[in-house]
Amino acid sequence: MTTLEQETIRPTESEGQPILELNNIGKSYGNVNALRGVNIAVRQGEVTCVLGDNGAGKSTLIKVISGLHDYTEGSLRVDGSEVRFGSPRAAQATGIATVYQDLALAPLMSVWRNFFLANELHKGPFLNIRTMKRVCGEELAKMGIIIPDLDCPVGSLSGGQRQCIAIARAIYFGARVIILDEPTAALGVRQSGVVLKYIVKARDAGLGVIFITHNPHHAYLVGNHFVVLKLGRVVLDAHRDELTLQQLTTEMAGGDELEELSHELSGIDPGKVVQGHQVDHGEIGAPDLGVGSFDGLAREPRFNG
Ligand SMILES: Nc1ncnc2c1ncn2[C@@H]1O[C@H](COP(=O)(O)OP(=O)(O)OP(=O)(O)O)[C@@H](O)[C@H]1O
Ligand SMILES: [Mg+2]
Repeated sequence: MTTLEQETIRPTESEGQPILELNNIGKSYGNVNALRGVNIAVRQGEVTCVLGDNGAGKSTLIKVISGLHDYTEGSLRVDGSEVRFGSPRAAQATGIATVYQDLALAPLMSVWRNFFLANELHKGPFLNIRTMKRVCGEELAKMGIIIPDLDCPVGSLSGGQRQCIAIARAIYFGARVIILDEPTAALGVRQSGVVLKYIVKARDAGLGVIFITHNPHHAYLVGNHFVVLKLGRVVLDAHRDELTLQQLTTEMAGGDELEELSHELSGIDPGKVVQGHQVDHGEIGAPDLGVGSFDGLAREPRFNG
C-alpha cells in the first residue's frame, strides 16, 4: 500500500443525514436518457467517487447537481429539504461548488485575483488589494499550497496547482459540497498525487467531496464511497469496506464485457511480432483492442501538468 493510502484510509462514515441526496433522478435530452433512476447520497467528511466510461452521464450528473441543467425526473434534497435549482447561483447559495477541469480559473489573471474572482473585497470604491493578497496567501498556506509569487498569472502554474487553488477557493467561500470534474485526467502521476492530497484535505475540512473520474486507482486512493454509472444508470454503489480495488477496476474496465472480450481474445498470441513482409493488409483495419493498457496511474494521458 502507498503512503497516500495509509494516510487517507479511514472507516466509512455512512450514518447521519446526507448533505445532498439524489432520489430517482432522471435527465432526458429529447429522446436521449442521459440519466435514469439515479440515487446517490453525499455525506459530509466523505469522498464520493463517481466513475463511468465515456457517455455514462457523469457530466450530466454534475450539471444537474450544480444547477446548470434541470432534471426531468426524481428529486434533489439538500439537508433533507427538497430543492429545485434554477441556476448555478442557486446551487452555490446552498454551498455546492463545482471545479470544472478547464474553466476553473482565468489563466491571465494573478493568483490572488483568481482567488477572489467575482467575490472581490473593496475599500470604499477601490479594490482592497492588500487584504485580498494577504487572505489568499493565508488560505493557500492553510492547505499547504506554496506559491512564491501571488502576482504571477495562474496560466504559468502547473495544472495540479491550479486545481488546488480552485479547491482552496471553494472551501474559503463556504462550500459544503465540492464537485471535482475529472481533476486528474490531464495530469501526470506526481501532479495527480498533489491533487489527490487536496481532495483529502477538503474532506478533512468537513466537506462532502464528489470526485468524478475515469480512473479506479485514483478513486480508490481517496474514496469512501463509490458510484459507477453506465449508460445513465447506477450499476454499482458501494462503500469502501464492501469493495476491493480489483472489483472496482474490473467494473470500470467493463465487467462482464471484459470477460467476454478476454474470451474472444483467448486465441491470440500477445507476444507475436509481425515482420513487415508478413503483414496481411486485409487486417490493417482491425480495431485496436488496447490489450494490457489498464495499468492505473500510468494510464492517464499526459499533457503538461
Ligand atoms: N446537451 C446534450 N444534448 C443531447 N444529448 C446530450 C447532451 N449532453 C449529453 N448528452 C448525451 O447524454 C449522454 C451522457 O453524456 P455525458 O456528457 O453526461 O457523459 P459523460 O459520462 O460525461 O462522458 P465523457 O466521459 O465522455 O465526458 C450521452 O449519450 C450524450 O450524448
Ligand atoms: Mg463528461
